[in-house]
Amino acid sequence: MPRRASLEPSAAAFLPRRRDLATLREASLHCEGCPLWARATQTVFGEGNPHARMLLVGEQPGDAEDRLGHPFVGPAGHLLDRCLEDAGIDRDLLYVTNAVKHFKWEPRGKRRIHTRPSTREVRACRPWLDAELAEVEPAVIVAMGATAAQAILGRTFRLTEHRGEVILDPAGRSVVATLHPSAILRMDDDARRTAERAAFTDDLRHAASLALASAVTALR
Ligand code: URA
Repeated sequence: MPRRASLEPSAAAFLPRRRDLATLREASLHCEGCPLWARATQTVFGEGNPHARMLLVGEQPGDAEDRLGHPFVGPAGHLLDRCLEDAGIDRDLLYVTNAVKHFKWEPRGKRRIHTRPSTREVRACRPWLDAELAEVEPAVIVAMGATAAQAILGRTFRLTEHRGEVILDPAGRSVVATLHPSAILRMDDDARRTAERAAFTDDLRHAASLALASAVTALR
């Protein structure tokens, strides 16, 4: 039987031969691996310490990130920064990225409203995340939100059941899945928002302690 060409969208063909972060970032700017590129201002590639022991993964760039070209620099990024500070973690030591590198949105009046990426779109973008993980080689991955967690741990992963636990991904890397900062920002109830922010900060602190422990072990 003749083999049918794959109809699955994928970024794979856009990845460069050289896989250092600077070359990857430059190549990602030209990615048209799925239809999301067409409505986004630009690709928002991951950023941070190339030798980070802890790597944070979000869902996709938001409106501010899409305009500015950097991950987590809008409202969710500001909350993330405050929680990192509360946890005593220096963002400059981390690598921060997203499961999907283009902003998916729909118009509502003059506003661009975030739309959750589909499983197909997350899968299409996966080669970029895989390349970042292979290059940075973090000891701990923090997956923020269900999209990031399922991108890394599989579609059957349930954040509500395993939030904050240390789970090995299929490649044997330690993953801590936690809430997405945007989800905390959306909570109407003040008491709940405060409690979830504290729990999110605890998850970051826990992940950082694991990363530190692995760095100490590596020195022995
Ligand atoms: N939300 C995300 O998941 N990533 C960003 O970079 C910003 C908001």
